[in-house]
Amino acid sequence: MTEPIRLTQLAKRAGCAAKQPPGFLLPLLQMLPPITDPNVLVGTATADDAAVYKLSDDLALVLTTDFFTPVVDTPYDFGAVAAANALSDVYAMGGKPLTALSIVGFPDSVLPREVLGDILRGATDKAAEAGIAIVGGHTIKSEEPIFGLAVVGTVAPNRVLANSHAQPGDVLVLTKPLGLGIITTAAKNGEDRLGAITEAIRVMTTLNRVGAEVITRFDVHALTDVTGFGLLGHLRNIVAASKVSARVFLDRVPALSAAWEYVRSGIAPGGTHANYRFLADWVAYASDLTKEEQLLLCDAQTSGGLLAAVAAKDAKELVAALRDAGLQAAAAIGVIEVDPPGRMFVDRSGPLDCLA
Ligand code: CO
Ligand code: CO
Repeated sequence: MTEPIRLTQLAKRAGCAAKQPPGFLLPLLQMLPPITDPNVLVGTATADDAAVYKLSDDLALVLTTDFFTPVVDTPYDFGAVAAANALSDVYAMGGKPLTALSIVGFPDSVLPREVLGDILRGATDKAAEAGIAIVGGHTIKSEEPIFGLAVVGTVAPNRVLANSHAQPGDVLVLTKPLGLGIITTAAKNGEDRLGAITEAIRVMTTLNRVGAEVITRFDVHALTDVTGFGLLGHLRNIVAASKVSARVFLDRVPALSAAWEYVRSGIAPGGTHANYRFLADWVAYASDLTKEEQLLLCDAQTSGGLLAAVAAKDAKELVAALRDAGLQAAAAIGVIEVDPPGRMFVDRSGPLDCLA
């Protein structure tokens, strides 16, 4: 009898924490010639979730891809998490997925072929839940297992929810709890003494479809999803693209309780530390925030929640509607402010008058 296969033991870095930090990629993208095609409604310039390409006045394509090494041990769950994560970028643009292609790297000298079968089954079931089929893909031999999807969706050009239109006074709403990077790292290292990985997998395999359906019923100005760059990294993309600032209240930010315990005992993925270092130039933390609290706000998420900037008048009703739809952790976590553009502030607590 052999030991059960633990996929995470084959990956040096796991999930979206394996993502190159924004500081690595942005300077390279800026060296490439600018995109001049007028049909490109959203390209690389604003670090958005997906590209948007206009086909006609009332129809645009949403294009995105996401793939990574195993973030969980079970092949089926890895496929499901990777699919939910890749689909999320379509929802984060206000779009609806149409279809997808698999992107696969597989070490067939180390793993039996059935493992890939289980990964594909997990992804196919998750895609089916999103109402789409995976219609093809590409598979190469690789040292570590790699899986993800390239997803195509549609959106009406005038309904695109980009990063770039957050307005001062908007309230920030987050739909899923943080801490997924910390918990998956604890599990990978055999340090998940609270067994939190089960709940983390439930959160990561929850499609952002329902969240997006609820959010788009309200007066939303900007929308993204929280993945490898962490809450503050993705909020940075919003405030930079929208030329506004943001203030986050730590005690309003939902996080899985095990993540608090683990980060305090020194567990956090390398990607989370990289986010923290990159964000140092953009975030001012109140002096009473501990390093661990700051790290959790930078924790690299895999298949995290949606982060919306919504008109203050809608914030209370939106949070209630998200919770009604089953997103129990949904919360208003801060506000968009005017100056200085691109900056973020984190206070331990603060008022959100709109919730009163
Ligand atoms: Co995204
Ligand atoms: Co992405």
